[in-house]
Amino acid sequence: MKLWGGRFTRTTDHLMEDFHSSISFDQRLYKEDIAGSIAHARMLAAVGLITPAEGETIIKGLEEIRADIAAGRVTFDVGAEDIHMNIEKLLTERIGAAGKKLHTARSRNDQVALDLRLYLKEEIPAVKQLLASLQQVLVDLAAQHLDTVMPGYTHLQKAQPVTLAHHLLAYFEMFHRDQQRLEGCLARVDVMPLGAGALAGTTLPIDREMVARELGFREISANSLDAVADRDFVVEFLAAASLIMMHLSRLAEEIILWSSEEFGFIELDDAYSTGSSMMPQKKNPDVAELVRGKTGRVYGHLIGMLTVLKGLPLAYNKDLQEDKEALFDALDTVKGCLMVFAPMLKTARFRVERMQAGASSGFAAATDVAEYLVRKGLPFREAHAVVGALVLHCLQEGRDFQDLSLAEWQSFSPLFAEDIYTCLPAEACVNGRNLPGGPAPAAVTQAIERARKFLGGLF
Ligand code: ARG
Repeated sequence: MKLWGGRFTRTTDHLMEDFHSSISFDQRLYKEDIAGSIAHARMLAAVGLITPAEGETIIKGLEEIRADIAAGRVTFDVGAEDIHMNIEKLLTERIGAAGKKLHTARSRNDQVALDLRLYLKEEIPAVKQLLASLQQVLVDLAAQHLDTVMPGYTHLQKAQPVTLAHHLLAYFEMFHRDQQRLEGCLARVDVMPLGAGALAGTTLPIDREMVARELGFREISANSLDAVADRDFVVEFLAAASLIMMHLSRLAEEIILWSSEEFGFIELDDAYSTGSSMMPQKKNPDVAELVRGKTGRVYGHLIGMLTVLKGLPLAYNKDLQEDKEALFDALDTVKGCLMVFAPMLKTARFRVERMQAGASSGFAAATDVAEYLVRKGLPFREAHAVVGALVLHCLQEGRDFQDLSLAEWQSFSPLFAEDIYTCLPAEACVNGRNLPGGPAPAAVTQAIERARKFLGGLF
C-alpha cells in the first residue's frame, strides 16, 4: 500500500515504479530530510498539533534512522518512491501511530524544496573552501614569480611582456568573482519554504518562523506557490558552477599549451601526468584535459535545468524532480576538479628560462619603443608607424631590435638616442608598467597583499 494509496484501486506498474522513483539518487538528501523533519516535529509539538511525547518519539525514531542509514543498515524501497516517503515509512514501521502524524501540515513539495536548500547551505561553503585553496596556490606561486617575465598574448600571438605572477593573479580575480557569485547564490538559498504545503499552505496553526529558527534559515518564503515551484537557486548555483568550470578550463588550456614542447613553459609533476600505451616518450596533461572536458557536462546541466523550468506552470510539477541529478553531478564535478587542480598546479615546475626567452624575442618590446617616441613628443599614431617600419626592416633582415645599431635606429627617427637600448629588455617593459592593476612587481606586490587579505577572511 502506497502512502498516498487511498484513492487508488490498482497497484503501480513496475515499469512506472522504476521510471518515476527518485530514491536511487535523492537518498543523498537523507540527512537534510531528517533534519527538516525533526524541526517540523518540534514545531508540531510546540503548537500542540502533536503531544510532546509524540514529538519525542518521532525525533528519537528519526535519529535512529539517520544512524542506520549512515551505517549502511537501511535498504531503500523503490516502491516508496523517494527519500521523503522512505524515511516516513521506516519511521512508521518503527514507532507506529506517532509516525503517521509527522506529515501533518506538510507536503513532499515543500519538503523537497527544503531539503535541497539545506543541502546547498552545506555544499556552497564547501565549494568556496576548495576555491579558496586553489586561490591560495595561485597567490603563493605569484609571490614566488614576481620577477619571472613571460610573454603575454593576444590572439595567441606574442604581444607584450608580463610576469608569471601577474598572469596567475588574473585567475585569482576570476575565482574571486566566483566566490562573490556563490555568496550571492547562498543568500537566495537561505530561505525556508516549509509551510507552503503542496502549494497553498495549510489550515492548521503552524509556526513557520520557529522552523526557520530551528534550521538556521535567515528568512521564510513569502509566497507558498513560489516556494514549491522555485528552483532559481539551483539554476544560480549551476550558473556559478559553470563559470568556475569555464575559468578552470581556460587555465587548463594554458597549462596544456604550456606543457607542449613548443611552449615548454611548464612541466607537470609525474604524479599528475600520464603516459601513452604506445608512444614511450609521451607525458600527457590529463588532469587539465579532463577539467576542460568536464566543463561541458556542467554547462549541460545548466541548460538542462533552464529548459526544465521554461514554461512550467505553477506550482510543483514532477518535472522538478529532474533538478537533483543535475545539481549533484555539477557539485561532484566542480568539487572534484577544484580538488585535483590545486595540487597539480602547486607541484608543477615553471621553466622560467623558457618564459624569459619567450618574453625577450619576437618584438615583444615594440609598444614600449613606440611609447619611448611618445615620451619624446611624437604623436602615438606616428610612433606606431615608425616602429612598424622598424619591425618590417628587422623581419626582412632576420634580426631583432637589440641587434640594430644606433645609426640604424636613427635612420627611422632622429628621436632615438642611446637610451633606447634600456627600453628593450623584457624586465624593463614589465617594470615600466607600474600602474594599479599592471604587471610591474611593485603593482603585483600590492595585488598579492589584497589577495592575501581576502583569503584571510575565508580560511
Ligand atoms: N521526489 C519528488 C521530487 O524530487 C518529491 C516531491 C514529489 N511530490 C509529488 N507531489 N509527487 O521532486
